[in-house]
Amino acid sequence: MKPLVDLDQGVISRDIFVSDEIYQQEQEQIFARVWLFVGHESQIPNPGDFFVSSMGEESVILTRDREHVIHVFLNTCRHRGMKVCRYDEGHANVFTCPYHGWSFATDGQLVGVPYYREAYHSQLDKSQWGLIEVAQLTNYHGAIWATWDPQAPSFDDYMGDMRVYLDELLNSRDGSEGGAEVLGGVQKWLVPCNWKFAAENFTGDGYHNISHRSVDIAAIGPSGKGRRDNERHGARRINACLGHERCNRRPVF
Ligand code: FES
Repeated sequence: MKPLVDLDQGVISRDIFVSDEIYQQEQEQIFARVWLFVGHESQIPNPGDFFVSSMGEESVILTRDREHVIHVFLNTCRHRGMKVCRYDEGHANVFTCPYHGWSFATDGQLVGVPYYREAYHSQLDKSQWGLIEVAQLTNYHGAIWATWDPQAPSFDDYMGDMRVYLDELLNSRDGSEGGAEVLGGVQKWLVPCNWKFAAENFTGDGYHNISHRSVDIAAIGPSGKGRRDNERHGARRINACLGHERCNRRPVF
């Protein structure tokens, strides 16, 4: 059997991208254990604000409780497993499960159980049935990271020297810590592949840039302001929009 990674030849096996067995191993050995980015504190500025994110395949709720403490909860009811939050983001005083109506406060505590006296004879210990919270959470310059592994190394140790790149992204231009803010909503694509295609393509394959050429020529980049690239990266700027209704100038390459 060919090796998955052949360092001598500089090639990798396609099985890495399509093997279900490898994917399941990744879910258990990577996504269930490592520190994962969940969201940014600016997405939940006020108590009761929430943003639904994911950790691996698990849906999680990023929220801020009444004491302004930030939490990340598994988005699943402790009764029979229904998602307790079915919105992408918003504001709520409690998360009420749509199935049988159990309610959870923004600190995760179970606070409401329909027919508590009749069905549970007032004996259900609500303190034992709160939302499941991540094992560790950290707020790194406004970015919220979490892990399910209580034994995971600290976030700083885990990131090591990679933090310099986070700092560049999250810190203010004057060098002070934090200051970044998430603006606007979330763009989502449904792509029939597992996580590696997108991750590898975005982070490791700048070589494919030529494949976006038609987008650049037509000046229909996602920003709506023309091409996606810029002069800082050695790209020639397009001076006008081709056929853009607000601009009659011709493109210059
Ligand atoms: Fe949530 Fe029953 S599954 S209340």
